[in-house]
Amino acid sequence: MALKITVIGTGYLGATHAAAMAELGFEVLGLDVVPEKIEMLQRGEVPMYEPGLEDLLRRHVAGLEGSSGRLRFTTDFPEVAAFGDVHFLCVNTPQKHGEYACDMSYVESALASLAPHLRGPALVVGKSTVPVGSADRLAAYLAEHAPAGGDAELAWNPEFLREGFAVRDTLHPDRIVVGVRSERAEKLLREVYATPVEEGSPFVVTDFPTAELVKTSANSFLATKISFINAMAEVCEAADGDVAKLAEAIGYDDRIGRKFLRAGIGFGGGCLPKDIRAFMARAGELGADQALTFLREIDSINMRQRGRMVELTRQALGGGPFLGKRVAVLGATFKPDSDDVRDSPALNVAGQVHLQGAQVTVYDPKGMDNARRLFPTLGYADSALEAVRGADVVLHLTEWREFRELDPQVLGEAVSAKVVLDGRNALDPEVWRKAGWTYRAMGRPTA
Ligand code: UGA
Repeated sequence: MALKITVIGTGYLGATHAAAMAELGFEVLGLDVVPEKIEMLQRGEVPMYEPGLEDLLRRHVAGLEGSSGRLRFTTDFPEVAAFGDVHFLCVNTPQKHGEYACDMSYVESALASLAPHLRGPALVVGKSTVPVGSADRLAAYLAEHAPAGGDAELAWNPEFLREGFAVRDTLHPDRIVVGVRSERAEKLLREVYATPVEEGSPFVVTDFPTAELVKTSANSFLATKISFINAMAEVCEAADGDVAKLAEAIGYDDRIGRKFLRAGIGFGGGCLPKDIRAFMARAGELGADQALTFLREIDSINMRQRGRMVELTRQALGGGPFLGKRVAVLGATFKPDSDDVRDSPALNVAGQVHLQGAQVTVYDPKGMDNARRLFPTLGYADSALEAVRGADVVLHLTEWREFRELDPQVLGEAVSAKVVLDGRNALDPEVWRKAGWTYRAMGRPTA
C-alpha cells in the first residue's frame, strides 16, 4: 500500500513539501498550530508569494473542484500520528533574539506534541535546518516518549529549496540527502523519493551529523561566494576595475562557476544570514570555533555592503546630509520572485537612508504588504513610475525582471535628477546612460 505522509509546519518549506508529496501521488496530511494558516491552505490559498505553489496546492487540496483530493490539513497531532507512516518536520528554526544560535523551540515542541501519539511503526523525518547534533538528541527523545518504542524512528533529510523556485527545487531536487540509522529508514525514504531518484536526482545516504552539516555548509559556501565577489567589488572600486566583467571571466572556470557571483548589496532573507551565524555558534560549542572564524568575515563583508550603498547614495546626492532629499527605492524583498522581506538588504538600505532624514519612496512588485508591516514609516508607491516621481536619486535594490524592463527614457521624465544606483548590478548601464542617466553600481567604473 502507498505510504501515507504528514507534514508538520506549513510555512514555506512545509506548504511546498506537502503539495509536492501529493503531486508525487501520496496521501498527505499537513499540520500547523496556526488555525488561520490551515484555513487558508484548505481554501487552496498560500500565505506567501511563491510562483507555482498555489496551482500545485489547488491541484491536490481535498474539496476543491477538480483536485486529486490527496492533500488535507489539520491542527490535530493525534490525527497526524494516527494517519502517517512518514512524518516530515518542517517547522522553522529562526535566529534567537540577541544571540547567534538558532531557536530550536518549534522543532522541540513539534516532536513533543507528536511523539506521545506514535503507537505504531513510524518514521519521523527532520527537514528543518538545525545545529549539528540535534538529530541525535531528538532521536533519543523520540525513543523515550513514543509508545511505539523502537518502531518509531528518526531520520534527517535537509531541504535545499530556494524561495522563488521552491516548487521546482522540491519536485526536481538537485540532490536528496538522508541521514539514517537503519535500513528500514533508508528504504522508506527511497520509496518517498522514488520519482525524483528515477528522474536522476542523486540520493546521498549519510549519518545524522553529516546530513545536518551538509545543509549548513552548503549555505555557508553560498554566502562565502557572495561575500567573495563583494570583496572583489570593493577592490575593483579602489583600483578602477569592473567586478561584473571580473565575475564573468572567473566564472568561465567551471571549478569556480558563474552562479552566485553577482556583486551588490549582499545576501539577506530567512536563511543565509541566520544559518552562518548559527553555524558559528554551534562550532563554538563543539570547540571548533577556529574553523569557522572566516564566516565572521563573510558576515561582516555582507553587512558592510548595505552601508556602502548608503554612502554611494550620499555621494550621489552631493555628499551632504540626506535631509530634504527625495530617494526612490525599487525593490523591498530580499530577492526577486518572493514577497519575503526578512533581513532584506533592500529594505535595510531604504530604512537607513530614511532614518538619516531622506524622504524615501519604495515600490516592490510583491513585497509591499510585508514591507509596510515591517517599516510603516517609509513612503510607498503603487508603481515604479510613481516611486521615482520627483526623486533626486533612484536606488535599484532588488533585481525584479520588471525593473530591468523599465524604460529609462520614460522614468527620466518623472525624476528630478537622472541618477540611478544599481545595488544589484542587474540593469544595463549602456541603456540607462544612453537615456541620459548617470549610472553607478558597486564595483563598476563610473562612466
Ligand atoms: C538559500 C539557499 O540558496 C537554498 O539552497 C537553501 O535551501 C535556502 O537558503 C534555505 O536554507 O532554506 P534563499 O534564502 O531562498 O535560499 O535565497 P538565495 O537564492 O540563496 O539568495 C540569498 C540572498 O543572496 C539573496 O538576498 C540574494 O539577493 C543574494 N545573492 C544571491 C547575491 O547577493 N548575489 C548572488 O550572486 C546570489
